[in-house]
Amino acid sequence: MATKFIVWSKIFESGVPEIDAEHKMLFEIANKFYDNIRHGDSEAVVFETLNKLVRYAERHFRREEKMLEEIGYPEDKVMHHKAQHQRLITQIFEVWETQYEIVESV
Ligand SMILES: [Fe+2]
Repeated sequence: MATKFIVWSKIFESGVPEIDAEHKMLFEIANKFYDNIRHGDSEAVVFETLNKLVRYAERHFRREEKMLEEIGYPEDKVMHHKAQHQRLITQIFEVWETQYEIVESV
């Protein structure tokens, strides 16, 4: 079985189909990025996936924050969720930076 960076499971389900679909897409792009790194794809390919992930995440954050505000979701929970998004993006950049450190030290 292929190794994944992050695996979707029921614990991530929010119960809102649009949000779950967007979260699954974030996971999918994050895993594609991880695969690009593992397979030694070209820098251009890695950057393309990284850009796609960051653009998709930004759009998702805006849509989700708007949706949560509209339904009166508690502000502390919104902040917690924003922090989870940010952590995912930080992890992606850490994987990317680690890859470049390895390449530079060879
Ligand atoms: Fe989200």
